[in-house]
Amino acid sequence: MNVPIVRTISDLRRIVAEWHREGARVAVVPTMGALHEGHLSLVRAAVDRADRVIVTLFVNPKQFDSATDLTGYPRNEAEDVVKLAPLGVHVLYAPDAAEMYPQGFATTISVGGVSEGMCGAYRPGHFDGVATVVTKLFLQTGAHLAFFGEKDFQQLHVVRRLVRDLDLPVEIVACPTVREPDGLALSSRNVRLSAPERQVAPKLAGILFDTARRIEAGAAAEGALAEARRAILDAGYDEVEYLELRGADDLAPLAAADRPARLLVAAWIGETRLIDNVPVQYASGGIGPKI
Ligand code: PAF
Repeated sequence: MNVPIVRTISDLRRIVAEWHREGARVAVVPTMGALHEGHLSLVRAAVDRADRVIVTLFVNPKQFDSATDLTGYPRNEAEDVVKLAPLGVHVLYAPDAAEMYPQGFATTISVGGVSEGMCGAYRPGHFDGVATVVTKLFLQTGAHLAFFGEKDFQQLHVVRRLVRDLDLPVEIVACPTVREPDGLALSSRNVRLSAPERQVAPKLAGILFDTARRIEAGAAAEGALAEARRAILDAGYDEVEYLELRGADDLAPLAAADRPARLLVAAWIGETRLIDNVPVQYASGGIGPKI
């Protein structure tokens, strides 16, 4: 099925108003394109839960902290359309930058708390850009449901916070990270990896999962994280930006997995920055963590 492409807010509003009149449940899957199986899993989940599905494609300049990262971001709308065609998407909403941020645009949505530290510390302004565009996309699409991947775990928390704080009438649905068979988390940035870097890249996920198991089994978090950092560098990564244990439901920094937690990492391999995260279970009454 061909996916109709909508470029303007007014055209989108007309279509969505009709859906609302029919009583349809509308879902949105926000993306920056360069679609991979991770995005498509969000689309499939949206198609399962909603009557009408909008996929958005907008490479949001406000969330890039480096001009070279923005210009080098992979873009291929024609291929994206082909990937979406069999999935039952009702509209691909792909506005240009002038439609999203017209002359004189001067408003920023800034979420505190969960946006601080980790990617928020290393990518100044990134989450303001995400929160601003996501708020606009929610208002433009009038969606009842919005689908986000756990791969961007801090982003998911930022979006949840802004929806709560601004009383936006949209339910956020989180979907699990999709991985290559060798464990590498799918990301639009993976296409930038050279062949040798691609060999090294999946070791990050292996180290994260091992470290999570060690912490669950009672290893002290500080020591386990220090060893994991060394292992990531020894594996061939060039830099570990952060590797942190945080509360799964509030992203509070943790010294031990004394409640459900998440291990989150950002690391550089050559010119490519990869992020990943894995759950750390807490079995109350089980082996306690040694602090
Ligand atoms: O996760 C992404 O692709 C982007 O941050 C999002 C949510 C589409 C906002 O531009």
